[in-house]
Amino acid sequence: MTQPSLSLVDTDPAELAVDAIVIGLHSQPDQDGALLPAPGAESITAAFDGKLTATLALLGATGAPGEVTKLATLGTITAPLVVAVGLGDEPSGASPELETLRRGTGAAVRSLAGSATVALALPLPDDEDAPRVLRAILEGALLGGYRFAGYKTKPQKGRREPVTALQVHVPDAADEAAAAELVRAEAVGRAVRQARDWVNMAPNLLQPAPFADLVQAAATEAGLAVEVLDFEQLKAGGYGGIVAVGQGSEAPPRLVKLTYTPEGVTDPKRVALVGKGITFDTGGVSIKPSAGMWEMKSDMAGAAAVGATMLAIAAVKPGVAVSGYLAIAENMPSGSAYRPGDVITMYNGKRVEVFNTDAEGRMVLGDAMARACEDGTDYLFETSTLTGGQVISLGKRIAGLMGSEEATTLVKTAGDAVGEPAWPMPLPDDVRKGMESEIADICQTNANLDRAGHMLQGGVFLREFVEPGVEWAHIDIAGPGYHSGEATGYWTKGGTGVPIRTLLHLVETL
Ligand code: BES
Ligand code: MN
Ligand code: ZN
Repeated sequence: MTQPSLSLVDTDPAELAVDAIVIGLHSQPDQDGALLPAPGAESITAAFDGKLTATLALLGATGAPGEVTKLATLGTITAPLVVAVGLGDEPSGASPELETLRRGTGAAVRSLAGSATVALALPLPDDEDAPRVLRAILEGALLGGYRFAGYKTKPQKGRREPVTALQVHVPDAADEAAAAELVRAEAVGRAVRQARDWVNMAPNLLQPAPFADLVQAAATEAGLAVEVLDFEQLKAGGYGGIVAVGQGSEAPPRLVKLTYTPEGVTDPKRVALVGKGITFDTGGVSIKPSAGMWEMKSDMAGAAAVGATMLAIAAVKPGVAVSGYLAIAENMPSGSAYRPGDVITMYNGKRVEVFNTDAEGRMVLGDAMARACEDGTDYLFETSTLTGGQVISLGKRIAGLMGSEEATTLVKTAGDAVGEPAWPMPLPDDVRKGMESEIADICQTNANLDRAGHMLQGGVFLREFVEPGVEWAHIDIAGPGYHSGEATGYWTKGGTGVPIRTLLHLVETL
């Protein structure tokens, strides 16, 4: 999991000795019909004697967001290649939309695989907005340049390796705010890469124990305190939900707790992050259809995001006390698997009547959330690839968000700021009524297996495991946690790392 090195430069972009230089291009033509280079590219435009944008247009460039056009410079500037990334219409404010910049730099850096060193000469405003814009550029570049190493036994012929060094052009390379963004971006980039790697790993190679071991090793190295509960300890400790799901697999479950304690802060706010870590979800006895089932290797994306966020927190050191809980199990059908009809006593003592073993996420999460509340917390943010209903209602890009007013507002605001949108959904009384059990405290799903309000059933169920007084949000990332299509913007194929940047941002702003 290597990440390109990052550095700031303030020398003339036209004179940078790099393999390629990325500039921005706006879509609307100027009065002479030429496309508009974005600020930052002035010296390069000048070196081309005014012919740069016309040449780019000849090559088909329109400046549309995310478009990437490459031009050999033939000695006009030091770098042999200019890469124009479309940024859409010239912004009415000082800078383009942050998400446009993130996606543009992501696409550009990915397209430059095969180049070792790449410089970015993109529009940076000259005001207090500069750090935010720089952050978007850095995150887009690092995330878009990610590639999963994979498992091929032989190096592929002609395979172009991802960029190894990124230089970012800024007005003043000694600027402290810019340097701080660089350090933060390195931590965020590493965290997202780590989560993507875990999600992209083959499920036979990332069963619960190896997953917990990898998280433990990374967290220990980052300086976090680590507690791992194994199957025996989970059984003895009364973690009925995790045990029920985990008992069907030959690979026993784990609960991992990571703790970050801020230095020199008396009585810090306390935050718990909880993630669903189903290393593979077959559905269990209520088995899933086989088509596309392999994508259920991504059913630990929530836990991967929580573990990776904790690594970023250890690096960024916010003044908040944060604990991460990863509820890890494999959901398999077998002679020892839990069954529809079972009644399970959860960690907080509530009894759940099981209707569908494929609703396993809420079983492991309920325990982990109850444990987080028992440990004591002011806020609880839980994230999981919980329901297909999330994808049906909000699609592949926007997470479903449920919970208390304060916590959901925090998530919504942070998500909007970082380009990981989440949309607030209700927790209706009638959905809770539909989950009344005749014999236990609550049904795990609608008692008639009615899929109405499918995503909301998940939120309503999980609410039962939050102690009163805890501000709580449930972030359903069934869609946004995993990208099945071809790479686009800073999203590569497979794990996305959503919602790491949301969680980090909101912890920093608390
Ligand atoms: N892991 C799935 C949800 C999922 C579906 C994630 C598609 C990503 C893409 C979850 O465990 C599940 O199977 N949910 C069921 C719940 C139902 C049985 C109540 C579902 O969505 O159908
Ligand atoms: Mn399932
Ligand atoms: Zn699942």
